[in-house]
Amino acid sequence: MKSIVCQQFAPLNQLQLQELPDPELPAGYVRIAITACGVNFVDALMVQGKYQIKPQTPFVPGSEAVGRIIEIAPDVAGLNIGDRVFANLFGGFSSQAVVPARRLTRLPDILSDGQAATFMQSYLTAWFALVERAQVEADRCLLVLGAGSGVGLGAVDVAQALGVRVIAAASTQEKRDLARERGAFATIDSTLPANDVKEEAKRLSGGGVDYLYDPVGGELGETCLRALTDDGQYLVIGFVAGIPKLPANQVLLRNRRVIGVDWGSWSGRNPELNEAMLQEVLALIVAGKLHPVEPHTYPLAKASQALQDLEDRKIAGKIALIP
Ligand SMILES: NC(=O)c1ccc[n+]([C@@H]2O[C@H](COP(=O)([O-])OP(=O)(O)OC[C@H]3O[C@@H](n4cnc5c(N)ncnc54)[C@H](OP(=O)(O)O)[C@@H]3O)[C@@H](O)[C@H]2O)c1
Repeated sequence: MKSIVCQQFAPLNQLQLQELPDPELPAGYVRIAITACGVNFVDALMVQGKYQIKPQTPFVPGSEAVGRIIEIAPDVAGLNIGDRVFANLFGGFSSQAVVPARRLTRLPDILSDGQAATFMQSYLTAWFALVERAQVEADRCLLVLGAGSGVGLGAVDVAQALGVRVIAAASTQEKRDLARERGAFATIDSTLPANDVKEEAKRLSGGGVDYLYDPVGGELGETCLRALTDDGQYLVIGFVAGIPKLPANQVLLRNRRVIGVDWGSWSGRNPELNEAMLQEVLALIVAGKLHPVEPHTYPLAKASQALQDLEDRKIAGKIALIP
């Protein structure tokens, strides 16, 4: 099989496409021919050794793949050759994967392979953050940073489906348009000085936002905390621009709350709850109330370019690698 291999933590351009032997098929597993693999910011951090989880090298990155079943271990029931499945896995940047049958999800036909391979992390993080952690209420106002791609865009879509009013901050017109198409009622150019972004959010929301969804962090996240109104919630999602130093006085003022969101570890500890959440999200996709984007596609061999483009903030929406 063909795989992108991270030999050692190194710059993105060191990733190599290699021919590896097909893995054995243990009991309880199926083999899938991957048709699309989602690319996430976390993958870029992981191959450079910058993520909190550091896998043993060499390893094949990629955690979200869609494919067709091509082989089934004799003890596995209920699956057929040719079934289209989603796998949450380690090693998705590959033409093939061997995955435990219990970790597979069947997907509605309404999702293309590219959409199916790229919505899970973004949408389930957003659902976990907004529904489970913040318990958002309809008609309240949410400011989303990094709203034109990845988890930010997923949050815009999930929030509009929940009846929350969304202000989307993103760096390019293309990203802001995408967020508007997903239901944001207003957008802000996030390349403005952070203080201007905060003031614009306060103006657009009519005095202050109820929730802040922050996958960006850095100076922007730190400053936008001040856009929260009374009892407003700051949802800590990620730190693409650095870990913000949230001023405790600004949390005290107006009884604001800072809410940690770690969907990855929560879903690992609560697989049944996560599965129930996934089914709710899928039902809304089928009902036409959630709208995962059709991703940009790159050939598998261009994985390092795809990760570089993501890091360079060039991507509006999502990326899938096609083996
Ligand atoms: N908490 C959780 O459970 C969870 C789950 C999944 C992911 N995450 C985290 O969420 C973050 C985003 O992941 P993703 O896959 O959504 O990435 P992504 O698709 O690359 O989106 C990140 C966005 O952040 C903005 N950005 C990037 N660099 C920036 C900078 N220096 N200053 C300001 N904005 C910048 C960009 O938007 P603009 O160009 O519009 O600014 C970019 O589109 C990562 O830190 C990831 O680890 C957390």
